[in-house]
Amino acid sequence: MVEKLVGLVLVSSRGYLILDPFPGTFSTCVPAVMMDREAVGVEIEQEYLGWGLEASKRVQEEIGKAFHVLRADASTIGNLLRPSSVDAVVTSPPYVLVSLHAGDPERRLERVLRAGGDPRDFFGGLARNALRERSHRHDYYSLNRWMILMGNVLSGLWEVLRAGSLAAFVVRNRIRRGSLLELDSILASLGLEAGFRVEALYSAPAPKSLWANLLAKKGLRLPPEDRVVVLRC
Ligand SMILES: C[S@@+](CC[C@H](N)C(=O)[O-])C[C@H]1O[C@@H](n2cnc3c(N)ncnc32)[C@H](O)[C@@H]1O
Repeated sequence: MVEKLVGLVLVSSRGYLILDPFPGTFSTCVPAVMMDREAVGVEIEQEYLGWGLEASKRVQEEIGKAFHVLRADASTIGNLLRPSSVDAVVTSPPYVLVSLHAGDPERRLERVLRAGGDPRDFFGGLARNALRERSHRHDYYSLNRWMILMGNVLSGLWEVLRAGSLAAFVVRNRIRRGSLLELDSILASLGLEAGFRVEALYSAPAPKSLWANLLAKKGLRLPPEDRVVVLRC
């Protein structure tokens, strides 16, 4: 995914300000400054902020230029940054919690794979534990909270982005209650509501994950792909 985001960063001009409202490990900010862009990441989780500060310090040591690490809720971005001060957004938003399927495991897996889903939906027990552990943090949102968050973030981005600039989001569609939850379409609709145009919507191969490797050992080929939603301000 980082490569995809870097590719998007590259199309912007030198000196431009790149914003990641959900930076996590700040894997977008690092290449952005290394390529002579300004970068700012707005993160809510203390642990990730620590990584961001550490990464920024290392980049500073390496090339004499750091990126900006802000602790804030991305919903408030409209008040955090100056209007029209951002030249591009590249980000992968937090994940959506999905309810896990009960019933016959073979059929469950088949259904998940057929719909192009994430194998974590199959490994019910493991996924449930992992999700329970994480759900008190901000990695996962219920669909309802996710839509509210993204609606607010998009309204804020509309304010801070320069007119005509691009915002790229990488999302993974998931299976929810037996059907495909198309977060890419939901995001595109929320973008339209906030005033953006939908510039592009496409699939990109997802990076090799632990789950993909586990299933590959069982001889199962996964259809893992990320969806990239590009909005124009
Ligand atoms: C999918 S991860 C980003 C992964 C990142 N692209 C990377 O390569 O590490 C989403 C991130 O958004 C952060 N986040 C969730 N809700 C947030 C909010 N309201 N404001 C700011 N950051 C938030 C999470 O803490 C998490 O770090």
